[in-house]
Amino acid sequence: MSEKETERVVEKIVSLCKRRGFVFQSSGIYGGINGCWDFGPMGVELRRNIKNDWWYVFVHQRTDVCGLDASILMHPEVWVASGHVEQFHDMLVDCKVCKHRFREDQLEGNRCPDCGGELTGPKAFNSMLKTRLGVSDDSSVDTYLRPETCQSIFVDFKEVYSSSRMKVPFGIAQVGKSFRNEVNTRNFIFRSREFEQMEIEFFCKAADEEYWFEQWRQAIWQWYLDIGLRESKLRWFEHPKEALSHYSKRTLDVEYEFPFGWGELQGLANRGTYDLTQHAAHSGKDLKFFDPDTKESFVPSVIEPSAGVDRTCLAVLCDAYHEEEVEGETRVVLRLHPRLAPIKAGVFPLVKKDGLAEIARTLEQKLRKKFPTFYDQAGAIGRRYRRMDEVGTPFGICIDYQTKEDETVTIRDRDTMQQVRVKMDEVADYVGKRCSSERG
Ligand code: GAP
Repeated sequence: MSEKETERVVEKIVSLCKRRGFVFQSSGIYGGINGCWDFGPMGVELRRNIKNDWWYVFVHQRTDVCGLDASILMHPEVWVASGHVEQFHDMLVDCKVCKHRFREDQLEGNRCPDCGGELTGPKAFNSMLKTRLGVSDDSSVDTYLRPETCQSIFVDFKEVYSSSRMKVPFGIAQVGKSFRNEVNTRNFIFRSREFEQMEIEFFCKAADEEYWFEQWRQAIWQWYLDIGLRESKLRWFEHPKEALSHYSKRTLDVEYEFPFGWGELQGLANRGTYDLTQHAAHSGKDLKFFDPDTKESFVPSVIEPSAGVDRTCLAVLCDAYHEEEVEGETRVVLRLHPRLAPIKAGVFPLVKKDGLAEIARTLEQKLRKKFPTFYDQAGAIGRRYRRMDEVGTPFGICIDYQTKEDETVTIRDRDTMQQVRVKMDEVADYVGKRCSSERG
């Protein structure tokens, strides 16, 4: 795709996201704030569905993973122990003419990409966002907004395994906000300063690291397929040894082919015993696992699948966005997997009169108890279907004159636009089954 075409596709997705309430710029009325986004009525549902499906698959459906929801703010020493204070740096260069700042590793030449000016030498810039805790000057402490969710999993490791009676091998999962003072926040929600992660730290014996790395490699790939991403748009990228993060023995990324190129969706890292060893040394606490069966104490190794909610959201939107010609008009349709769709069913009376609106309202209220629905009686039926197509609603339910005779309704499939007639009291089951997280 040429640069112009890429821009056009991205613009269309950004515009749909704004127009239909998926994503807005944060603080828009004040001119926005770089790298921060707000998720509107449709976006918040899509995000929740992504997170809930992830939790369903990786926590609820497994007996070897449990959850955690830890505080974002942590003791400042955590970030010294984790290596973030020392090592979580970007190397930045400044343009001597226009004063714009760039990441050295993202520059193509050795001149300023904006004005062609001369650049300074690289300087290390810590990407953590500092904040101050406490109200008086002498008792306040500086700490950071967490740049990854996983550190609290390591710090709480002992609390979790002793309170839940989990035994190695087992994992702890967490979904939550992370913050990074990113220099370059291009590509819509791809690289933000405030974002959300879905992370699992899976603790195992050192001898089993490779086995579990492979198990997780397969499991995370399958999840992307199960939420509807096209396999042809996914690939693995192996980090070269010399470019690994300070904690990692091996890292693979799942990448998605966005309109602007391949980008990381999720990292899978073998963190070995790095984090638990560091936190044990800095806190002075024993973070070994004691196996009551073998009476053995050891520091477990860690395999870490770490995914971004925002990037999953963006990949899902890019993958689902389609335009097609229907009866001389362009139909914009989001082909979201039904389990991710913000609204599961639109309910429409064919016309408002003759009691059809009342039947439709009653049905919609009944369905609303099971899943998110939307009632619409305004305008031509075709327009109402199209409005639902644009937000990815998989099913359109129409109440017509035949409904009054035999208590059936039509259900229109968003993708094929085919309609089937279904008994009114079977609609909840018909839609519910197709939107469920249950596999198989
Ligand atoms: N605990 C390991 C860790 O944080 P990472 O590769 O730095 O690893 C994991 O981040 C995932 O978090 C990435 O694959 C991406 O999906 C998401 N992520 C990281 N930085 C992000 C940013 N600035 N904006 C949006 N998502 C981001």
